[in-house]
Amino acid sequence: MHEHYTTTQTGTPVASDAHSLTAGADGATALHDRYLVEKLAQFNRERIPERIVHAKGGGAFGELVVTEDVSAYTRAAVFQPGATSETLLRFSSVAGEMGSPDTWRDVRGFALKFYTTEGNLDIVGNNTPVFFIRDAIKFPDFIHSQKRLPGSGLRDADMQWDFWTLSPESAHQVTYLMGDRGLPKSWRHVNGYGSHTYQWINAEGERFWVKYHFIARQGVENIDGIEAEAIAGADADFYRRDLYEAIERGEFPTWDVKVQVMPYADAAGYRFNPFDLTKVWPHSDYPLIPVGHFTLNRNPQNHFAEIEQAAFSPANQVPGTDISPDKMLMARVFSYPDAQRYRVGTNYNQIPVNAPHAAPVHNYSQDGAQRHGFNAPTAPVYAPNSFGGPVADPARAGEGSWESDGELVRAAATLHADDSDFGQAGALYREVFDDAARERFLTTITGAVGGVTRPDIRERAIAYWTNVDAELGAALRAALTAGAEAPEAAVEPVGTPS
Ligand code: HEM
Repeated sequence: MHEHYTTTQTGTPVASDAHSLTAGADGATALHDRYLVEKLAQFNRERIPERIVHAKGGGAFGELVVTEDVSAYTRAAVFQPGATSETLLRFSSVAGEMGSPDTWRDVRGFALKFYTTEGNLDIVGNNTPVFFIRDAIKFPDFIHSQKRLPGSGLRDADMQWDFWTLSPESAHQVTYLMGDRGLPKSWRHVNGYGSHTYQWINAEGERFWVKYHFIARQGVENIDGIEAEAIAGADADFYRRDLYEAIERGEFPTWDVKVQVMPYADAAGYRFNPFDLTKVWPHSDYPLIPVGHFTLNRNPQNHFAEIEQAAFSPANQVPGTDISPDKMLMARVFSYPDAQRYRVGTNYNQIPVNAPHAAPVHNYSQDGAQRHGFNAPTAPVYAPNSFGGPVADPARAGEGSWESDGELVRAAATLHADDSDFGQAGALYREVFDDAARERFLTTITGAVGGVTRPDIRERAIAYWTNVDAELGAALRAALTAGAEAPEAAVEPVGTPS
């Protein structure tokens, strides 16, 4: 017994899901078998373009709970003491395509959506606090260098290291990538970072610069290159499976939410450029301030509808939060909605996972492909109007602002006292990594640089690591030389560098 007949998309019962309409049992198929045509045509349209970056991922829903009082820094309802907000978190790898193995070495995406009473707040971060470049105009070139050669369709160590060594601002992030955090044990065992500097505004209109940190209560745990290679072969969906199964078992992962807060006026004189995405703010300068925590406790019911179609954007800010003059961030607020209009469609924000869940939408946009929501027929369709339509909130006029002057130029940002491309990378290598981590790091970069075929690029890579740490550079040269003499001994599985 079946509860329902199969129907066409328009609800009519169909005659068969097993046999097409043919001229005799062995004859030609009739084009007017409308159900066959509909079924095949619909199937051909099941895919949307994968994300241009961060294509492979997975995610889950949960809840943010604010346990501390940070109202001195932000008026955002989502961060007021006791507030709770529905949350979506999507994890991802950066460079791999949709089917790529989860455990290839890479940075991991950590994209959060908080469905707040003042609209959706997205914090689209990574499991590292910095990034490879500091100007968005380099982003497409950077990504091209990490993806595939147009001819062979293969990844290529020469172009990866060519780009990195010609872009020395990448050193800090490449140190993270080639370090233990490049191979997490699972998504549950990564920290997340907003990475950029954002702005918070309190009820008095006072502005602050903030960095978001999401610290895994499960702890940060990583695996080594040999294990990662084995898992990549055995189970390409290892992280996706781990998260899904943990939540199904009732083991709900939790992250503590913390912020570093810099008074607005400190930015100009700080020893590092606070809007340079290749730099962290040492905790000794700006300690972590606790805000609350979020827990993932609900798997998506449909991966495509709720994860593949999810659209995160740093443009999604709420009253009391905003962006900063970080050149990467200012471009990202354009890039994400643009990508999503193409990838998901003009009305992507009407899809349930993207629409605000706890705040209404009132504006004068209308129509477009696949639009299904609409205003009442009596609602005015333009602003300003005399018919009681929605009006903008003047209280927000001063938010997301900063002083800015000077001519339009194309130039590097002003240097601050301790700005350098290699300083913080060296500190990470010497002061944060322990001896064993440094040893693993040397093995990893020896394997990765060992894949470079052009001698000048290989030489530049050695110089790059020498700039990070002179002893490291010398050790790399020695290891590469030893490897050249005994090639089997030097080739360490390092996953696919990306
Ligand atoms: C995804 C662009 C830098 C984290 C994306 C997407 C684009 C993009 C176009 C695909 C969006 C979609 O189709 O839904 C850029 C540009 C950047 C940049 C132009 C620099 C100017 C960054 C940085 C971070 C980051 C610095 C982290 C701090 C992510 C994450 C995703 C993503 C996590 C996946 C979001 C998801 O799970 O859907 N990026 N990106 N990106 N990006 Fe970036």
